[in-house]
Amino acid sequence: MRVVILGSGSGTNAEAILCAASAGQLAPAQVVAVYSDVQHAGILEKAAHYEVKNSHLSAPSRRASLHGESENLWIETIKKDAPDLIVLAGFMRILKGPFLQAFSDKIINIHPSLLPGFPGLEAIRQAFVRGVKITGCTIHWVNEVVDGGEIIAQAPVRVMPGDTYELLEQKIHGAEHVVLPSVIRDLAIGATPFPGE
Ligand code: GAR
Repeated sequence: MRVVILGSGSGTNAEAILCAASAGQLAPAQVVAVYSDVQHAGILEKAAHYEVKNSHLSAPSRRASLHGESENLWIETIKKDAPDLIVLAGFMRILKGPFLQAFSDKIINIHPSLLPGFPGLEAIRQAFVRGVKITGCTIHWVNEVVDGGEIIAQAPVRVMPGDTYELLEQKIHGAEHVVLPSVIRDLAIGATPFPGE
């Protein structure tokens, strides 16, 4: 199973995937490429550390999605990697029609809340400010509805009295780093079906 990872940030989730893959824990999944819309994103360094092909692909600077020529560039570049699975690991752009059609039923996303609670940006802060006592992370299939695709897996995180926002963020990231590689492994070995299977 050929996996392509897309991300915009520090890439700790990509690192968890790459680390598990290099330890042979995700076989038969292999990460074939990592792409970022942010030129010097940490996620590219993490991929380089694991000697995985990585590249910055340009994208409109003021938009939170991919459009027109840049969307085509992303589609054509990724198609050459012949991915079976695309993992959005902190990819902060909304994917729409042409991209979703090009890789239909192959894209998963990690989101730092228990969806359908707290979709969209700043999900950890939304949950913290709301004062929930349980939050967590969700892995879901990506469709046209932002953070609205079918849920594959979730991990709960308790918010304890006195937890700061920073601590909650750390706890959620810790949960993410366990559940995301395990979902990829389950997809790779057929324990979790792809849509329509
Ligand atoms: C992760 O917490 C992920 O859930 C979140 O971005 C972070 C990326 O961290 N994604 C979203 O908020 C998507 N809406 P990382 O770059 O260290 O993996």
